[in-house]
Amino acid sequence: MWIPDTLSGPNFTLNIRDTFAQIVPSGNQTITGGINGKFWGPTLLMNKGDIVHMTVNNYLNDSTTLHWHGMHLPAVMDGGPHQIIPPGTTWQPYWEVKNQASTLWYHPHMHEMSQEQITKGLGGFIIIRDSEEAAINLPRNYGIDDIPVMITDRDINAQHQFAIVPYGDSIMANMTLRAQYNVPAQVVRFRLLNGAIETSYNLGFSDNRSFYVIGTDGGLLDSPVLVNGAAPRYILNAGERVEILVDFSGQTGSNVFLKAYNQSLPNFIPGSESFPNGPFASFLGHTNYNILKLNISNPTPNPISTIPTTLVTNQYPLEQDATLTRIITISDSTGVTSVPILGPNAFILGHHLFDMGYINHTIPLNQTEIWELKSTSGFGHPFHIHDVEFKILTIDGVAPSPQQAGWKDVVLVERNKTVRFIAKFSDYADEMHPFMYHCHIALHEDEGMMGQFIVTEQVGLNKLNLSTDFSVYPNPTREKLFIKFNELPFEIYYATITNLSGKIVMMLPKPELASGIDVSNLKKGVYFIEMISQKTKLKTSKKFIIE
Ligand code: C2O
Ligand code: CU
Ligand code: CU
Repeated sequence: MWIPDTLSGPNFTLNIRDTFAQIVPSGNQTITGGINGKFWGPTLLMNKGDIVHMTVNNYLNDSTTLHWHGMHLPAVMDGGPHQIIPPGTTWQPYWEVKNQASTLWYHPHMHEMSQEQITKGLGGFIIIRDSEEAAINLPRNYGIDDIPVMITDRDINAQHQFAIVPYGDSIMANMTLRAQYNVPAQVVRFRLLNGAIETSYNLGFSDNRSFYVIGTDGGLLDSPVLVNGAAPRYILNAGERVEILVDFSGQTGSNVFLKAYNQSLPNFIPGSESFPNGPFASFLGHTNYNILKLNISNPTPNPISTIPTTLVTNQYPLEQDATLTRIITISDSTGVTSVPILGPNAFILGHHLFDMGYINHTIPLNQTEIWELKSTSGFGHPFHIHDVEFKILTIDGVAPSPQQAGWKDVVLVERNKTVRFIAKFSDYADEMHPFMYHCHIALHEDEGMMGQFIVTEQVGLNKLNLSTDFSVYPNPTREKLFIKFNELPFEIYYATITNLSGKIVMMLPKPELASGIDVSNLKKGVYFIEMISQKTKLKTSKKFIIE
């Protein structure tokens, strides 16, 4: 199994490219999308409290976006469908990492192209560390006893190319077919990510060994939860992560498989059904299959040999602090005549097909809300929300199992069931850029199973000046461009740099201007820099030259 390289911050450069890779061991290479490599992308290591600066270069021939799934950040930095990066353009978002230690990920979120761009292999892990996690005796040696595993499936055709279909016939672990990996004979931590387009995986080990769940989407649980019994399983749905501990002590020389037991996945959960033909055909539907062979080898010099009894102290929002219950329906479009363009099998949220120009919900900053996801759909959907991590309150009236009771940003809403979760919408208000919520089945999302909300703050226009005039220096320049405001500095909402033919070459949400804008990547020529004021949204632009 391939292990992604790591990048440490606080500055990260990500180059998104069309490329190719030897996915099938011999014969044709596969056309892929890669971030700094041949597929997938580096694992970004961040610390809580860091201010991270991303430089995202889009070298694809298509527009794309890069979304930081699970990250709590300003909407304009979120990389959702509104933060489009045209080909040849650099996008430079930055934010303070406020999430607690957790396993997040990043992936394209271009509306109607998510499935295609994720299928190519674009994405990557984000590992956030913090002092609370660092104080626990947990495996933390990346790739040795702390192993990221992105599970997905692909349909690989006779020419070895990835077909853009919801279900694949070949399972992959970190983009590796028939993956195997050496693990030391001690306690090993796996950070499992379901990176599939649609499939849910009913995970377990071939010897039915027990394991401990220590973390979910948004961070560690209060204490490890033992998953045991005759058939210990954990269902991981598209977009979800789970961190587990497995004890291999004293087992040097033997091996065990991480498997998907999808034969026993409940009906109407993606991957549970056997479709021999048609658009949903898959050899893997309703079967059990190996994902990753683990060869147990000698322990490392200072192995972790015990499972901690407690982890972190989580402060979840309290039900009595919720000001509102927001009801989101999940339904099949069949018979819904108000959305005539939907095919017979599309699924929708809130009886409203996704519309980039329509804000479905407006949430006052700092409001605590209960979201009630009410499904009348005939199928299960992994519901995901941006901006926040939430806590599941009930699933059809019943409290979640302990391994689902931590911080989450995706929850499977099974056919005809109702899920209630609670979340607080703090820190970031923005009237202009919305956050998304959607089904994490990329096909459904692309078909319009998505909605958006803005978080708003009541502020009057205040004392600060309204002039947006500025000048740039030095001009001509080569390395850096500095900004001088003609009056008091106005707060900048967004800056863009366009070339003479009107093409955007750099996108700078809320730029920090004190140390200048790095323009050393730009070719010689004439450019315009446009700035938008935070308060008035007025735009002013200036010309400058790169020599
Ligand atoms: Cu992982 Cu809006 O997505
Ligand atoms: Cu997300
Ligand atoms: Cu769905």
